[in-house]
Amino acid sequence: MNKQFPPGFLWGAASAAYQVEGAAAEDGRGASVWDVFARLPGKVANGETGETACDQYHRLEADLDLIASLNLKAYRFSVSWPRVFPTGRGAVNSAGLDYYERLVDGLLSRGIAAMVTLYHWDLPQALQEEGGWAQRDVAFHFADYAGVVHQVLGDRVSHWVTVNEPWCVAFLGYRDGLHAPGLSNEKAALAAVHHQLLAHGLAMQRLRADGLRGVIGPALNLVSEVPASEAPADIAAAKRLDGIENRLFLDPLFRGQYPGDIIDFYRSVSDFAFVRDGDLAVISEKIDYLVDNFNGRHIARADPDDPQRGALFTYPGQKRTAVGIGINPEGLLDVLLRVNAEYTRLPIYVTETGIALDDMVDSTGTIRDRDRIDFYVDHLRAVREAISQGVDIRGFFAWSLLDSFEWAMGYSPRYGLVYVDFKTQMRIPKASALWYRQIVEHNGGSL
Ligand code: FCB
Repeated sequence: MNKQFPPGFLWGAASAAYQVEGAAAEDGRGASVWDVFARLPGKVANGETGETACDQYHRLEADLDLIASLNLKAYRFSVSWPRVFPTGRGAVNSAGLDYYERLVDGLLSRGIAAMVTLYHWDLPQALQEEGGWAQRDVAFHFADYAGVVHQVLGDRVSHWVTVNEPWCVAFLGYRDGLHAPGLSNEKAALAAVHHQLLAHGLAMQRLRADGLRGVIGPALNLVSEVPASEAPADIAAAKRLDGIENRLFLDPLFRGQYPGDIIDFYRSVSDFAFVRDGDLAVISEKIDYLVDNFNGRHIARADPDDPQRGALFTYPGQKRTAVGIGINPEGLLDVLLRVNAEYTRLPIYVTETGIALDDMVDSTGTIRDRDRIDFYVDHLRAVREAISQGVDIRGFFAWSLLDSFEWAMGYSPRYGLVYVDFKTQMRIPKASALWYRQIVEHNGGSL
């Protein structure tokens, strides 16, 4: 059996602006919802913020050399909207755009492809004050912002990602209050789903109208949902979770409609009147590829306190990450096969798969993260299996290049291939980074 991945398979690592850049108030950058949210007492572990993060903004050349030293074929990063438009729209801050030009040029001069995410959660605070994603205009401002970024970088960027994990933004941010903007408003969360999808479609149209040379698609965090038992209530709970976490995004993107059972489920919360004529045609315009950020498998169970509406879930897997998520590579295979069988045969990139561990530097200055290597071996084997079953998977990106600001969990979950000492900003490639370099070198053949 040929163990190598398909020729040209794009091996990379991923990051996001607010998680790594720092320089939050520099060169004209405006505030984002995360700057504001992180300062609210009790919202982020230990009161940490992304103000300095990995300071990549100031350490760009060294980090680019680091990426090159790991042999990576691609780097996925996001553009900070408030660096480009400090108030979300209006006057462009060219110093912000200059940074991303340096980043892209630095990658290309080292032979590394750029995958650019246009929205990875750092909405300009000024737009939040107008209602954020609950408000329709934001989608149009996003398309304008995307158009400006593309005007500057479009000749050099091969892969564009419109919005990252709109489920997280809508439900963690607008319903559960766990992420910025920290609201507890389910109705607003549903509007935020729609407006992010609309933003995706409008941005894609804009870039295509402006002569897009690369490829473009959205990034979803898809979950494998399994009922806890054969009991009808558990089966219904799994279907409901699948509806809210997967189909609420896949159906409008690939079928041009929201799932009827989920519209019914939310009947008392929202009438979905935010969906206007023509929106679903924009949202379902054919994408070039789908990005799957794999976030695990859920075992779904009806909530005994509210069996009609409630669904509880646990993460299966004998081993757990440092943030308590069960490790479940079979779930990744399920998700990839399911998308391929039910929704699309378009290319897929798996761009966020990773594991938080309590990494420690030992007395020899080494980080022996054997569990991370095992994690990647198992997940990459799942990807290879999906490919052998006919799924057109074009690339794999580790989450993450560096240990970074992990949103509400702050800096303690370490996901990086490269260790970051946040006091000194020293970077130390972990054992997994050196291992990944070999994998890339052999195009996965050594797995
Ligand atoms: C994903 C986010 C990413 C990172 C990983 C661990 O949901 O997109 O920024 O935090 O989880």
